[in-house]
Amino acid sequence: ALIKNGLADRCVSVPVREATDADILLVHSEEYLEAVKKTPYMTLEDLKEFTLQYGDVYFHPNIYHCAKLAAGAALQLVDSVMTGKVRNGMALVRPPGHHSMSSAANGFCVFNNVAIAAQYAKQKYGLKRVLIVDWDVHHGQGVQYCFEDDPSVLYFSWHRYEHQKFWPQLRESDYDSVGKEKGAGFNINVPWNKVGMKNSDYLSVFCHVLLPVAYEFCPDLVLVCAGFDSAIGDPEGEMCASPDIFAHLTHLLMNLAGGKLCAVLEGGYNLTSLPQSVCQTVQTLLGDPAPRPANLDGPCESALESLHCVRSAHRQYWSCLKHAGIAVLSDHFCFYYNYDLIFYIIHKCVVFSTIRENFVKDADDCHALTTLSSLISLVEKMEKNEVQHRILFLTFRGCSDASGFLQAVLGLLLPLGYEYDPSLVLLVRMPDSGVCDSVWQQLTGLLQGLAQGHTLVLMQEGEKERVAPTASALLGDAAPSLGQLHSPLPEDVEVLERLRHRLQGDWKLLQTTGEFTTAASHINITHNLTSMDLEKTISTM
Ligand SMILES: *[C@@H]1O[C@H](CO)[C@@H](O)[C@H](O)[C@H]1NC(C)=O
Ligand SMILES: [Zn+2]
Repeated sequence: ALIKNGLADRCVSVPVREATDADILLVHSEEYLEAVKKTPYMTLEDLKEFTLQYGDVYFHPNIYHCAKLAAGAALQLVDSVMTGKVRNGMALVRPPGHHSMSSAANGFCVFNNVAIAAQYAKQKYGLKRVLIVDWDVHHGQGVQYCFEDDPSVLYFSWHRYEHQKFWPQLRESDYDSVGKEKGAGFNINVPWNKVGMKNSDYLSVFCHVLLPVAYEFCPDLVLVCAGFDSAIGDPEGEMCASPDIFAHLTHLLMNLAGGKLCAVLEGGYNLTSLPQSVCQTVQTLLGDPAPRPANLDGPCESALESLHCVRSAHRQYWSCLKHAGIAVLSDHFCFYYNYDLIFYIIHKCVVFSTIRENFVKDADDCHALTTLSSLISLVEKMEKNEVQHRILFLTFRGCSDASGFLQAVLGLLLPLGYEYDPSLVLLVRMPDSGVCDSVWQQLTGLLQGLAQGHTLVLMQEGEKERVAPTASALLGDAAPSLGQLHSPLPEDVEVLERLRHRLQGDWKLLQTTGEFTTAASHINITHNLTSMDLEKTISTM
């Protein structure tokens, strides 16, 4: 599929090598390695006997060789990314690795490719923090066991669980296994207790758990246990997420760690959706815009319940989740145009009539009008062939606190943007935005997951020094890391939570818990304020 879609030609092909004993011993015991080493010489009877001591794994005389190549390929990828030979990459390997334990093969896995890669990266490149995102539909218990007391590796996994009825049926795959001792808080399990999870459920967990925590953690490298049995049609996963969701999951991780991302193949058993999903992932890694995700109708009740449990279990470890599970007092007369963050969602006609009127009124030279007409023709060009016109229009003011701002972007703006599904994102940088370059680049980068990457940034003339960082983000360069973030200001959190609470009746992707009441009466107020403030904004442009 990669060749057929012209993707293979656009990639740098990195030769694989065999993992050495020393590499394998970073994770596995000497006894286990010695035992696996003997398998190429065993009789069929001996192999069957050997296999019986492990769960759901098969040993072929050739598997030791293949397993060494799989782990070695992951290490070659880490080397290529860490030395800057490539920006990011994907290792297409078999056997998979994430179920394999220190002294036991398990679930088709012999050596734990990603766990070895994480240890290797830490040791060879002195990395302080590695994030492992496991989007395979099974729990990578082998990775969990390897790092559960290690705060330098944050392991995130979502997995089909069904209240412990689904393989590997472990109590410790549930949300309350958060890590041990110094590693408490650095193991995040999101159990899926029902099958049929969809794009909304996946995106919702990314926006409300993984991304806020990942940004707070601030990894030096992102590794992905990229299993695609979580895609539609897979006989193991029985989930309903479409292959293009992997473009978005990939995109959302690409601004972490300065873009250093290594995906390593794990499961995936449907020969239709597996290649499609891999292509979506690779295409996104290459910098192509992600397709607009279909059917984002909000998370299901069971997913919301899991989301709520995970956020609550981790609130004591992550300041971005501190407020999770706390009931928000509803304040009926809270006018949010006073707040630091303001956003608008409007239809094309509204934006343009407002811009036109205000410009015509305020413009006392023809320069502004020329600018305006070229802007409009630019937008029209960008939108050619689009049937539906939706524009997400954003402006920011006084957002000097990076933590609170990022929290707003991840927990409010992205889910809202995804559900709104605009055909264009219009991003206005006000002179008093207070947003520093690296935060601005994160924002610009993250928002390019929307509207097939159709993003238009408006800046004021006096902001020349902002142009280069903006252009770099628009060109797809990873945003610089924000460093480890401090707690967001309590007043920011309160404002955001209240806003989220108020809007979640209309915007299902903003929900983080199943038990909430809709504040429908506020919606009118919201819309009025929106257009009122819009005019104010436009006239200062
Ligand atoms: C694979 O998934 C597709 C949907 O993407 C489905 O139509 C097909 O039946 C599945 N094949 C198998 C063998 O399960
Ligand atoms: Zn799997």
